[in-house]
Amino acid sequence: MKSKISPSMMCTDLMNVEEEISVLEEVGVDYLHIDIMDNHFVPNITLSTDFINAVRNKTSVPLDIHLMINNPEKTFHLYKGCNKQDIICIHYEATKHVQRTLVMIKKLGARAGIALNPGTPICMIEDLLSDIDIVLVMTVNPGFAGQKVIPSTLDKIERLRKLLDQAGYTDIEIEVDGNVSFENAKIMREKGANIFVGGTSSIFNKDASISDNCKRLKKIVGY
Ligand code: DX5
Ligand code: ZN
Repeated sequence: MKSKISPSMMCTDLMNVEEEISVLEEVGVDYLHIDIMDNHFVPNITLSTDFINAVRNKTSVPLDIHLMINNPEKTFHLYKGCNKQDIICIHYEATKHVQRTLVMIKKLGARAGIALNPGTPICMIEDLLSDIDIVLVMTVNPGFAGQKVIPSTLDKIERLRKLLDQAGYTDIEIEVDGNVSFENAKIMREKGANIFVGGTSSIFNKDASISDNCKRLKKIVGY
């Protein structure tokens, strides 16, 4: 499956977002990853739906919206102009009516993603496969950038790829989010991931430019 990169916009210099989006457009990225938090599902608050709509007006790069909020279905009226390249990803643990919420995402015209916390087993989504386009494997506990990968989540990627392929869902993509460093990205790719959220430990690593970091990550994941 083709590798794709999705820079995590919560890791940008928020005083310089427009400039950094131009750099990302120039180097070429597949998505812009936007984390939405509510201080309930996760103990933090980051970007807003206004930020999403502002970014959408600025760029044609598809958006990869990661909802770390309880009852995400109650916010869908806020996302303007979703298109079939965009991803809206909800957490399995965040709503009682997962299947209904996935169907609502598709009705918005976006691709439906389901995110699993490190402690949530892959078997929980077995009856949802026909409603899913992407599974996001959280490789850290959601809520903060700059954390270290949880080792058990790496094998989880491999088991998930196997489960999907054996069930005939070879087109469902696996996204990884959390400490997707240059070293970890290589392992995650080998385990079966193909969408890589690049945050503080890769794309926005301060040791090099955003452009050079993107090129390096692309090389590592066989872009
Ligand atoms: C964390 C967010 C991630 C975060 C990744 O809950 O979902 O997207 O920004 O940042 P790093 O790569 O620093 O872990
Ligand atoms: Zn995220």
